[in-house]
Amino acid sequence: MEFHVYETAKAACEAAGMLLGAQITRKGDSVLGLATGSTPIPAYETLVKWYNRGVIDFDRIVTFNLDEYVGIDHKNPLSYHAFMDEHLFSKVNVRPENVHLPSGHSAAAGAAYDAAIRAAGGIDIQLLGIGRNGHIGFNEPDDKFTYGTHVVTLTENTIQANARFFRSPDEVPRQAISMGIGNIMAAKCVVLVATGRDKAEAVYNTIRGPITPRVPASILQLHPCCVILTDTEAASLMKD
Ligand code: F6R
Repeated sequence: MEFHVYETAKAACEAAGMLLGAQITRKGDSVLGLATGSTPIPAYETLVKWYNRGVIDFDRIVTFNLDEYVGIDHKNPLSYHAFMDEHLFSKVNVRPENVHLPSGHSAAAGAAYDAAIRAAGGIDIQLLGIGRNGHIGFNEPDDKFTYGTHVVTLTENTIQANARFFRSPDEVPRQAISMGIGNIMAAKCVVLVATGRDKAEAVYNTIRGPITPRVPASILQLHPCCVILTDTEAASLMKD
């Protein structure tokens, strides 16, 4: 596990964008695993900047997002589809048919998403944020790790954290469909970005704590190619 600390949140997120950009440069038909949330926005800005300068090309790039809310239409501005359109897809030349987000609320929908990832040759690089409770994707603390894409019931902690995007916590969907820990571990490389003081405990537990489904990100200790990028605040418990 590689761990790098940056002075600012923006620098940590831009570094993540650079790693995705380098992957695109190295392999023009890369399969990218993408995340939503506040943290990756500067990473996507970095990719858009390089695309506009003609440095990277998305024409043959394939993307799979980690997750989506259940029961929210793709056109809803609060959907993860809309988020990705706004921050990346509408700004680069990725082909709509190469863009994938999980959808539906059944085991069959999850299995179909896993099959699509396999058919694309697997994920070359997976971008991740992390929840304050150590969740990755919508894999919440649990007593077991989940392998494939599955429907999850969001914890109160996550509903409150995501309420900032909605008019009230009551409007936050109670379910999401998310890649599983197995999908994330199967990615050839993983880049996790964490910024801000409220992620410090999750970062510490991920890197230094026991590997446990109570801290889903802790499984990344076993990933052969995992890079964790943080700002100084998110690394504040890592001093000793
Ligand atoms: C989003 C996702 C979540 C977020 C996490 C952190 O696709 O899978 O795990 O990465 O909730 O969100 P932010 O970056 O908003 O703090």
